[in-house]
Amino acid sequence: MRRGRFEFLGLMNVAAAGLLAPSLAPRLSSSIASSNLDGNGRSPLGDSNDVLNPSQAGYKWRLVLAYDGTNYAGWQYQLSPPTIQCVLENALTRVTKLDRKDLCLVGSGRTDRGVHAWGQVAHFTTPFNYDSLEDVHAALNGLLPSDIRVREISPALPEFHARFSAISKVYHYKIYNDAIMDPFQRHFAYHCVYKLNSTVMREAAKYFIGKCDFSAFANVSHNDRVQDPVKQIFRFDVIDVGPLLRLEVEGSGFLYRQVRNMVALLLQIGKEAIPPEIVPMILESRDRKELAKYTLSTPPHGLCLVSVNYNESHLLLPPGRPASSFGRHHSVTKCKLPFY
Ligand SMILES: *[C@@H]1O[C@H](CO)[C@@H](O)[C@H](O)[C@H]1NC(C)=O
Ligand SMILES: *[C@@H]1O[C@H](CO)[C@@H](O)[C@H](O)[C@H]1NC(C)=O
Ligand SMILES: *[C@@H]1O[C@H](CO)[C@@H](O)[C@H](O)[C@H]1NC(C)=O
Repeated sequence: MRRGRFEFLGLMNVAAAGLLAPSLAPRLSSSIASSNLDGNGRSPLGDSNDVLNPSQAGYKWRLVLAYDGTNYAGWQYQLSPPTIQCVLENALTRVTKLDRKDLCLVGSGRTDRGVHAWGQVAHFTTPFNYDSLEDVHAALNGLLPSDIRVREISPALPEFHARFSAISKVYHYKIYNDAIMDPFQRHFAYHCVYKLNSTVMREAAKYFIGKCDFSAFANVSHNDRVQDPVKQIFRFDVIDVGPLLRLEVEGSGFLYRQVRNMVALLLQIGKEAIPPEIVPMILESRDRKELAKYTLSTPPHGLCLVSVNYNESHLLLPPGRPASSFGRHHSVTKCKLPFY
């Protein structure tokens, strides 16, 4: 790290003196390219195509992020208490030397306070291209706290949008169903002492599959615009893993609190307090107060955004851009969930 920094400073001096060959320019850290923009708006490095006006679309980059949400007030930007978006923006502004507003960091969606992610996706833009993403990737992870990791960074097409290009999202909710809680699971699984009947939960979960108005399962969020309450659930599996019960749900999108509210109802059904046929009845009511008669929402820490799936045509790699970075020491494209 230290040696890297010396090399970096050395290059910066050369660049400032205008001695750098244009062919080397794209290899430079972005900070150099952008700082050149600050002065007179022109790159002294020769190739003006490498540095765009920040008001233009610029170069788009896609991030795949994993985080332990325990210590954060969710994804959405706010200064205090810290959010994932805020901490990530701080790291990105340091690595790119761009202003927060010029980065235009957009996530696939919000995660609530205390919710985790293994596959959150975000995009941001820079007015300059990179020659390689490995150093940027390492620098970002070096600046980020250890509970937030950038798993991948790739160039993205201009039409890629972390939120609008998404075609489905997968969430997992973990329930630790045993008398004594496993202390190593306490931040990642909800502890339920009452013995659950997973067979009947599985039966009830099937009622959620399909296209449906989920108004009864959405809480109103103050900063949400009015959303289409019709969402499609592609699958909702209830999987026994020893004392753990893993609820896996994939849908076209989810309303605010929808997953936790659906899980809450399945918990009541698993306790055999209410029959599975209650699900279609509550769905049809399209009234949040109807669900409130049976259950509160489940706590956030059992929930994890596992992956966001995109329209393949929006994921194509644009020409003239560097290769994706999966970290310096390996190049597997699909990482397995590490903690299941
Ligand atoms: C779980 O529920 C199913 C379906 O109602 C029932 O057939 C089964 O006996 C229940 N299992 C237990 C252990 O109670
Ligand atoms: C969600 O909505 C229900 C029903 O309106 C309400 O009772 C509950 O307090 C809400 N929860 C949150 C966290 O807003
Ligand atoms: C994917 O994107 C293309 C181009 O924007 C669009 O024509 C197509 O309908 C999209 N496919 C899906 C499944 O959304």
